[in-house]
Amino acid sequence: MNEHCSEPDSVRQMLADRTRKVHLVLHRHPWISLLGSSALTVDQYGAILRAYHHFFAHVDTTAAEHALASSLSLEPARDRLKADIDSLALPADADTMPPVELCLSSSRQVLGAFYVLHGSSFGASVLNRNVRAVLPAVPRHFLGARSDRACWSQLIQELERHREDDLARRDILQGAMATFEQFGEYVTRLCESIFPPPLQIHSVINKKAVNHHETARPQPRSNS
Ligand code: HEM
Repeated sequence: MNEHCSEPDSVRQMLADRTRKVHLVLHRHPWISLLGSSALTVDQYGAILRAYHHFFAHVDTTAAEHALASSLSLEPARDRLKADIDSLALPADADTMPPVELCLSSSRQVLGAFYVLHGSSFGASVLNRNVRAVLPAVPRHFLGARSDRACWSQLIQELERHREDDLARRDILQGAMATFEQFGEYVTRLCESIFPPPLQIHSVINKKAVNHHETARPQPRSNS
């Protein structure tokens, strides 16, 4: 609830606030943070992209089962990930991909998952700068794509339709929390099925952007 009036906070503001901790955990995630490190190798880059791709595909399949608007689909991001993975010519191991264990039991939980995965494009832009510097020859269709503003504002509109509905807000939040947690867990599980765990947590490159993000008090947001 907004401090100054009895209006409920926007759903997007509530999500940003309530998922802040689990989001920041991903900044220090042993594998995801490698994308922001000078220690990143091509094989690790490929494995992380594969984890993203497989996880995004799982959420899209669940969304289709819940008849969610196809305009919110993660297909453009999946296509970019696939283009990157294909041009890295990694060994084929689709059969050995571990299953994703994210369970989304309602269309509102899927909306929460879409918030997380579409929102991941903001972090991708930060990480893109490092990958470009460290591995200049690798394809970056996914990391280099800017966030799709039209799709993001449609998602926000969809979220705000539930602004006054407490049960729906809780369901969306539950989907978002589970997605953040399972995403990190999945990237670790997939990478560690191939490589030994990294010896240290790599700090992300754009300390200024990230520090600002980590320390700034959440501000009221507009809906775009
Ligand atoms: C080291 C990795 C990451 C960094 C450095 C990072 C950084 C950022 C930054 C700076 C923003 C704010 C963008 C802005 O306000 O203009 C942001 C937003 C966001 N990120 Fe991340 N991120 C990372 C990983 C991820 C991942 C892996 C996910 C999801 C799986 C994710 C989900 C989100 C979401 C949902 C938002 C939107 C929050 C909102 O404003 O409502 N991030 N991220």
